[in-house]
Amino acid sequence: MKKTGKRRRCAAGLLLGGWALLLASVPTWAQSAGDKTPTEPPSQYAGSDACKTCHEAIYQNGFEGTPHFKTTLKDGHGCESCHGPGAQHIAGGGDVTKIVSFKALSREQSNSRCLSCHGESREQSHFAASVHASSGVGCVDCHSPHHANEEQYLLVKSSPQLCYGCHTAAKADFAKPFHHRVNEGLVECNDCHNPHGSATLRQTRALPSGDAVCYKCHADKQGPFVYEHVPVKTEGCSSCHTPHGSTNPRLLRVSQVNLLCLQCHTFPTLSPPSGPVHNQSQKYQACTLCHEAIHGSNFNTAFLK
Ligand code: HEC
Ligand code: HEC
Ligand code: HEC
Ligand code: HEC
Ligand code: HEC
Ligand code: HEC
Ligand code: HEC
Ligand code: HEC
Ligand code: HEC
Ligand code: HEC
Repeated sequence: MKKTGKRRRCAAGLLLGGWALLLASVPTWAQSAGDKTPTEPPSQYAGSDACKTCHEAIYQNGFEGTPHFKTTLKDGHGCESCHGPGAQHIAGGGDVTKIVSFKALSREQSNSRCLSCHGESREQSHFAASVHASSGVGCVDCHSPHHANEEQYLLVKSSPQLCYGCHTAAKADFAKPFHHRVNEGLVECNDCHNPHGSATLRQTRALPSGDAVCYKCHADKQGPFVYEHVPVKTEGCSSCHTPHGSTNPRLLRVSQVNLLCLQCHTFPTLSPPSGPVHNQSQKYQACTLCHEAIHGSNFNTAFLK
């Protein structure tokens, strides 16, 4: 694979650059290591046209019209950029032991083949450290270069059905009466998550500023406010809301607003509600009727407006 070869040489170059600074006395040794050729000698590549003679259906239906046809351009290796050099496979009349078959690869091995080209793109760069990767979920569980059912992104299924296949709890959450309208196509799993992993917990996306992904669509909650409601910034939106779906209005974690507030506002941990309006009679239970600006306020320390 051409691109891998380049990258390896490049990585070796960087590494050796460091060594050269530290061990300026061994430049010849460093030089010869830097010249190490890629493991797959180019002479064994047969070219995609050769593959076409026996694998015409794949070539025409699962390659020619797909984004990966680009791998044949310039001096790319096309089919062989994923399957490895095929000269011996052809010489053997289609000897399956002489070609890289994805069926025979572990998830880790096939992931690294894909990542040899995609690993540096911003979207996929966290994949190797992602929960998906460490749980044995690989590129080919979600993508199929030849047999995609969704032309866009070569997906085996469209999202969210793709995700629901494995995430039944999420499926149940989005079926609750109050939910982000993922099934209705208004919001996508991918708006909040990067299935290729991210630098944050739960493979959630973050804004370039590092703030929670929620602000992308709920910018009015971001502030900064003169009077911040502390948990919005410290514990985040999920301390009061379930992000997927809920049986409670406003996606709240608990069924009544007062119970939510009193989870934290109980003596002695925090200032408990005080004054005549806080006797917990029915009338005062709807805390946000008065504490309207519950996500933060520029006018009032008690978020009354
Ligand atoms: C002379 C005919 C011929 C040519 C040319 C040929 N193949 Fe094959 N290939 C076969 C046969 C026969 C099989 C085994 C039957 C099958 O799975 O279709 C096979 C199987 C494969 C498999 C599947 C292995 C597996 O077990 O999953 C891959 C991948 C493959 N070929 C890739 C290539 C690539 C890449 C090229 C071009 C470098 C190529 N082939 C050229 C005949 C050929
Ligand atoms: C982007 C990487 C990639 C490229 C490029 C690629 N393949 Fe594949 N190939 C795969 C993967 C992954 C599979 C496993 C099946 C799947 O997920 O689609 C596969 C499966 C196959 C198989 C097994 C039979 C089947 O239908 O699954 C054959 C044969 C094959 N490829 C031949 C080719 C030929 C011929 C070309 C060029 C025309 C080619 N491949 C280009 C990744 C690639
Ligand atoms: C859990 C499922 C899943 C896994 C695993 C997965 N992907 Fe994706 N991938 C997706 C989905 C869904 C999209 C569409 C994203 C969107 O709609 O924004 C996508 C989009 C892409 C795209 C195009 C969008 C872009 O901007 O990059 C590439 C390229 C890609 N994936 C490569 C990979 C590679 C390489 C791997 C393995 C290292 C991989 N994917 C693993 C689900 C997955
Ligand atoms: C030799 C380099 C190379 C390898 C290896 C490779 N890809 Fe790609 N991939 C590409 C190129 C080039 C594109 C087209 C990008 C573009 O158009 O900007 C692409 C596009 C994609 C897309 C986006 C499709 C879309 O609709 O935008 C997905 C998904 C993808 N590849 C998945 C994979 C998977 C899964 C593997 C491993 C089985 C893989 N790739 C291996 C080079 C590669
Ligand atoms: C509105 C943003 C948003 C959308 C849309 C979304 N998620 Fe989430 N998801 C989150 C957040 C935030 C968490 C972390 C919750 C926590 O840590 O309490 C999470 C957690 C998860 C988890 C970890 C287990 C759990 O329930 O805590 C899985 C799995 C998951 N989401 C899958 C999905 C799938 C599948 C979809 C689409 C069907 C989806 N999510 C859509 C924001 C979202
Ligand atoms: C092939 C099965 C499979 C598919 C398809 C799949 N996942 Fe996962 N996902 C898993 C497994 C296994 C885990 C790790 C265990 C768990 O948290 O359930 C996981 C974990 C997650 C997590 C939680 C990460 C954490 O830190 O706990 C999120 C978020 C997630 N997946 C989102 C998605 C989204 C979005 C899609 C669709 C684009 C998707 N998954 C498709 C199997 C899958
Ligand atoms: C891609 C855009 C998008 C993202 C990202 C997003 N939301 Fe939303 N959210 C919406 C839309 C659109 C609605 C309107 C609900 C509707 O009418 O379906 C909504 C509604 C809500 C509601 C009110 C529900 C109701 O019953 O009125 C809450 C609470 C909420 N989101 C919390 C969050 C949290 C927490 C996050 C981050 C984990 C988040 N949202 C991320 C688009 C988004
Ligand atoms: C301290 C608890 C708490 C935190 C933390 C919190 N919310 Fe809320 N949120 C509420 C309550 C309570 C309501 C219902 C207000 C009402 O009664 O109308 C609400 C309502 C909403 C609504 C729907 C009504 C509106 O004002 O638009 C959205 C959207 C929302 N929250 C988004 C968010 C986002 C995004 C975050 C994180 C930045 C967040 N919330 C953090 C308690 C909280
Ligand atoms: C996750 C914990 C948490 C939840 C839930 C929560 N709060 Fe708070 N709240 C805090 C913290 C921490 C502070 C700042 C510490 C303080 O001043 O007591 C605060 C401050 C306040 C203040 C300002 C107090 C002051 O002295 O200026 C008001 C008013 C308030 N919260 C009302 C509410 C209401 C109403 C709810 C329910 C909708 C609620 N809080 C839910 C943690 C929480
Ligand atoms: C009828 C209107 C009203 C309702 C309903 C209400 N509050 Fe208040 N709350 C107030 C007023 C007025 C203050 C005093 C503001 C000030 O001192 O400036 C206050 C003060 C607070 C404070 C700050 C106390 C302090 O020492 O600074 C907290 C915390 C609080 N309320 C929580 C709650 C909670 C939790 C509920 C629901 C169980 C609730 N409030 C219901 C009007 C209300």
